[in-house]
Amino acid sequence: MKFSTSSVVAIAALAGSAAAFAPSAQSLNRITSSLSMSTEVAEESKKRVTKKEKRLQFMKTETFHRRGFKDVREGVEKSMEEQFKSQLVDELTSNDFVLERDGVKVFLAKDFGFCWGVERSIALAYEAVEHFPGKTVHITNELIHNPEVNDKLHDMDVQFIEKLGEGKKDFSNVNDGDVVILPAFGASFEEMSMMNDKNVDIIDTTCPWVSKVWNTVDQHQKKGLTSVIHGKYAHEETVATISFCEDYICVKDMKEAEMVVDYILNGGDKEAFLKYFENAVSKDFDPDTMLDKVGLANQTTMYKKETRAIGQMMQKAMMKKFGPVDAKDHYWEFDTICDATQERQDAIHELVEKSDDLGLDFILVVGGWDSSNTAHLLEIPQKAGVRSFHINKSDCIGADNTITHRTMAGEIVTEKFIEDWGKDVVMGVTSGASTPDKAVQDSLSSIFLLKKVHAGED
Ligand SMILES: *[C@@H]1O[C@H](CO)[C@@H](O)[C@H](O)[C@H]1NC(C)=O
Ligand SMILES: *[C@@H]1O[C@H](CO)[C@@H](O)[C@H](O)[C@H]1NC(C)=O
Ligand code: SF4
Repeated sequence: MKFSTSSVVAIAALAGSAAAFAPSAQSLNRITSSLSMSTEVAEESKKRVTKKEKRLQFMKTETFHRRGFKDVREGVEKSMEEQFKSQLVDELTSNDFVLERDGVKVFLAKDFGFCWGVERSIALAYEAVEHFPGKTVHITNELIHNPEVNDKLHDMDVQFIEKLGEGKKDFSNVNDGDVVILPAFGASFEEMSMMNDKNVDIIDTTCPWVSKVWNTVDQHQKKGLTSVIHGKYAHEETVATISFCEDYICVKDMKEAEMVVDYILNGGDKEAFLKYFENAVSKDFDPDTMLDKVGLANQTTMYKKETRAIGQMMQKAMMKKFGPVDAKDHYWEFDTICDATQERQDAIHELVEKSDDLGLDFILVVGGWDSSNTAHLLEIPQKAGVRSFHINKSDCIGADNTITHRTMAGEIVTEKFIEDWGKDVVMGVTSGASTPDKAVQDSLSSIFLLKKVHAGED
């Protein structure tokens, strides 16, 4: 497993980069000037600072665990290897990411599969279960978007806290002395403070990249900015992020970002605007006053190019409205990029660019259908016109030469898979950050078998 050594280094690196979020002298000036604007604003700002401070306070208590448990580490590493590792994928990586078998030539993307944030989160959760034998262990949500991992947690008797709809959950089964795991996407501020009030041990598996985004929105608030969040408002990661915001608006794609930019520049029908963004804005959101100074933040798993395009559009709008000199006081962006997401997107880009030279028939993207980082990997070949399929398990490849896959529009469709049995199948493959290598192995094995069975047919 890559987990033990590389992740420690990566965590250390993150701790270093977190320091970059310390306000600069310039930003402190801005905070001071916004504080002196009026006492109302000053009061508001004080309130804003405390949410992050409170979170840091929770994290300091003795029952808040973020580093796992050494006593059970070795056993957990072993069982993770058994559960997720793949010999076939290891063979591919050690053979320069190429492999030929049974008339199928496979090119693996150079970065793929489990990111260290996911591996870390699984290890912390498994360790917690082993470390507290006999205790009731709860989890506030799916740990990551992977059914095998969630099934395994069920097997370990971990209780999934029940969702009641409208973002509400039933915490009544959580009793004194229990253990509560917070998933990789993090928990909202309200959930964290509720858990803090209960007498429970908290295992925080939040990926440090996700909490880095929270620090970004905290910086927005200190600067008196409205956070424009590129993300889906119902995604758990976004839910957690917005719980650390005061004023925010979530835009899920370019179209919604264009609506916001249009309102910034031309104003418009406020009621219709608020109706459209009903679930995606903070309480008492006023587009007439709150869109003058904005900061961009994104979900770590969104499509990178789109975030960048949204950022450029916002920046241009502020230039138009306030002039190039003052624009910088009205638009801010911080780099909240997640390395793992970027590397996986870059790697499939590389495959797409070489697809003609390599003669790829298609690219296979393996990962959960509700995993947004996996869905974004599919966008890259799709937008380049390369035949590609997002499948969530090997069963999606049918013995009758069909493939069942999720399209960019989110539909599940089944179609004819291999078009020409008379030649070798040449394919690219990658997998999302929450996809174990085993899932890739199983899918490739199905294709090898399919080709073997049909060998010699036209
Ligand atoms: C997130 O947004 C920042 C700008 O604020 C951008 O530089 C970065 O690439 C984005 N990350 C992803 C994964 O989209
Ligand atoms: C694949 O998707 C189906 C339908 O959403 C789901 O029932 C199943 O658990 C998923 N399996 C995996 C391994 O992701
Ligand atoms: S994809 Fe990035 S943010 Fe998400 S768990 Fe992995 S490292 Fe963390």
